[in-house]
Amino acid sequence: MARYTRLTEPIALITLNNPPVNALSSAVRSGIVDSVSQALKDDQVKAVVFCGENRMFSGGADIKEFSGSMSGPPLVRMIHSIEASEKLMVAAIEGVALGGGLELALGCHYRVANTKARLGLPEVTLGFLPGAGGTQRLPRLTGITAALELITTGRQISAQEALQLGIVDQVTEGNAVQAAMELALSVIGQPLNPRRLSLRPPVWSADVDSVCEVALARVKQHSRGAMAPVACVQAVRAAAMLPYSKGMEKERQLMDTLFRSSQARALQYAFFAQRNAGKWSLPNGARWNNTKARDVQRVGVIGLGTMGRGIAVSLVKAGLSVVALESDAKQLESGKKAVTAMLQRDAQRRGVGSPLHLLTFALSFHQLKDVDLVIEAVFEDMNLKKRVFSDLCKVLRAGTLICTNTSGLNVDELAKVTDRQHLVVGMHFFAPAHVMKLLEVVYGSRSSPEAVAVAMALGKRIQKVCVAVGNCPGFVGNRMLKLYMDQSLYLLEEGATPEQVDQALEEFGFAMGIFKVADLSGLDVGWRVRKASGLIGPDIDPVNPSRWRLGQRYCPLPDMLCQQGRFGQKTGRGWYLYNSPGSKEAKPDPEILNFLEDYRLKYGITPQRISSQEVIERCAFSLANEGFRILEDGIAAGPEDIDVIYLFGYGWPRHRGGPMFYASQVGLSVVLEKMEHYHRIHPDVPSLEPSRLLRRLVAEGSPPIQQWRNHIKNLHSQL
Ligand code: 3HC
Ligand code: NAI
Repeated sequence: MARYTRLTEPIALITLNNPPVNALSSAVRSGIVDSVSQALKDDQVKAVVFCGENRMFSGGADIKEFSGSMSGPPLVRMIHSIEASEKLMVAAIEGVALGGGLELALGCHYRVANTKARLGLPEVTLGFLPGAGGTQRLPRLTGITAALELITTGRQISAQEALQLGIVDQVTEGNAVQAAMELALSVIGQPLNPRRLSLRPPVWSADVDSVCEVALARVKQHSRGAMAPVACVQAVRAAAMLPYSKGMEKERQLMDTLFRSSQARALQYAFFAQRNAGKWSLPNGARWNNTKARDVQRVGVIGLGTMGRGIAVSLVKAGLSVVALESDAKQLESGKKAVTAMLQRDAQRRGVGSPLHLLTFALSFHQLKDVDLVIEAVFEDMNLKKRVFSDLCKVLRAGTLICTNTSGLNVDELAKVTDRQHLVVGMHFFAPAHVMKLLEVVYGSRSSPEAVAVAMALGKRIQKVCVAVGNCPGFVGNRMLKLYMDQSLYLLEEGATPEQVDQALEEFGFAMGIFKVADLSGLDVGWRVRKASGLIGPDIDPVNPSRWRLGQRYCPLPDMLCQQGRFGQKTGRGWYLYNSPGSKEAKPDPEILNFLEDYRLKYGITPQRISSQEVIERCAFSLANEGFRILEDGIAAGPEDIDVIYLFGYGWPRHRGGPMFYASQVGLSVVLEKMEHYHRIHPDVPSLEPSRLLRRLVAEGSPPIQQWRNHIKNLHSQL
């Protein structure tokens, strides 16, 4: 797990060897300790160079070990003894030095990095802090301001930036081990005390308090209830105020608290859930590791509206060539301008050449004849999409995939109009598509495993977090969202205000409350969908609309707002008031409060006092309850996939893991009890009825979330 090699006369090499990221597992730490002691015993050895197997220094502590009982040499003590060693220690950084990996390097007396290496202390993203001296050593190298920024955000930096900040001593375009050896040979014999960061005094300066105050205000605003960033500020402050040993005590105390926190568990769960999402499986047994994806080089994008533009940008940025098609010259021109500007801005920002040569704009389907895959992003209209799909079949090569970006229409129905049902899948991007990381890959009943593999691989190539999901109205994300939105609207009917609901959700950790999000997306979008699906029609009285449609409770409030021209930010009025159309600052609107009061009076609803707890329970538990139904229906392979969808597509706070993880943390029996309670009070809302799977899991003793897949398998095998 750590290989010891004698190099030239005075140098020994210790190679961390734990693929794929050389995580500092218990075995690796033991290997390092043994290798260091071997080097110390060898009189011929004057210097030790640390490096990682496969040109990857280290991805830090082994996160998998955190859930069990820790064993092996403690990292803090190991790094301390490396730093205290009388022999010269040099880190040769290639690939990444992250978390404990960078902390190990900071314990060395010199650091050399390859130009392509990335360095960082991402522990905050896992719910804790750099707990192997990182919070005390890094500020002693970079100063407080830079250390605060790096440690509270977890941002990874390039070797060049690390050099500028003083984190590494040398950057090389060549082999870092070779460069580290040369450096070692040139400094052997020089005093080591000045290189031992723990011996440096606290990095106090007169403005420490104000710098920390500013950092604290920033993290509180950005992290919305996450504990780790706040603790990171406290730990770095200790590096400014206290000698090293006292600072380490503070680091340990803070780490102990964070390490046991539910937030750390949620964030570590999210880390693995994100990585597992790519390991898709279909009900028919096809999986990521038994299906080959063929290569895609040219992609057609149909429709250059809100979504098509972002999709085209994402593809071109990843080096794919794109043929972008519109229905008429005017639309094409406006799409072309927007896509070109986005790509140019991005190239400028990144200091790279513009990739516009990869783009072709087209008005005729014939120009799509050579593409390997098409992504359709025309209006959400089944008939239009069917026309597009059947026209495509007339020009596309036989093996070309046809993908739809529909938000929830039936992928099977669309596939039926084609001559290649097996090559039709959904690729559901989220707006803005060049920014949002999530991609739902929707397989229909006839989609081939290869088609799913191709769509997943393409999504990965354009740096999306891809989740394979089954075909049902709204797929996973939007199917659940509908119930979340319904609950929020019912809460307004029953006595809450949009601000109250949003505040509760934001305090829970959402970046934005649901009514602010609705104003941002445009209330008219859902209005059009409801009209198309027959929920709103000529037989509905616009002044006194019914609260009962298609056999269920219905809240007509958003339709009534749209009738008043309140479409959200774009019209300057929605659930909130804005200074002008397009402005972003949402202000409570007294007109909305009056409107809600009149509405309740008209329908004889006695307003209730709604607590924040009720808002969270009804919204979050409804999401989870529908998530259980989705698992029952086999639309998602496991709870982790649902959580990844909510983390990356719907702004669910990462430190709460996702709706399914949250339900598991609150306790499934509590969720069940609450759903039963709310369903009793609102029998006219069938979605509040606890799902079968939830009941079953509770009956089976509320197993941990990692075991739910087995219970779902059993449930399916009994159906
Ligand atoms: N511990 C355990 N497993 C890890 C790991 C770690 N630190 N880092 C990555 N892995 C695993 C992943 O789960 C994945 O496993 P899988 O193949 O079974 O799915 C595999 O390694 C490859 O990971 P990625 O798919 O993420 O590979 P990439 O090449 O895309 O990224 C990486 C590599 C940049 C190193 C990325 O994995 C990463 O960011 N890792 C986490 C880094 C981190 O947060 N380190 C801090 C750890 S905590 C710590 O050090 C505490 C200390 O302060 C005391
Ligand atoms: P949009 O209205 O902004 O753009 C649609 C574009 O398609 C228009 O530019 C239109 O000219 C073009 N178009 C229409 N018919 C065409 C044809 N026959 N050939 C070529 N181009 C044609 O719509 P938006 O928002 O981009 O939505 C597109 C699809 O993406 C819809 O299915 C929608 O449900 C889905 N979607 C939308 C999201 C959003 O937030 N806007 C999020 C995720 C999916």
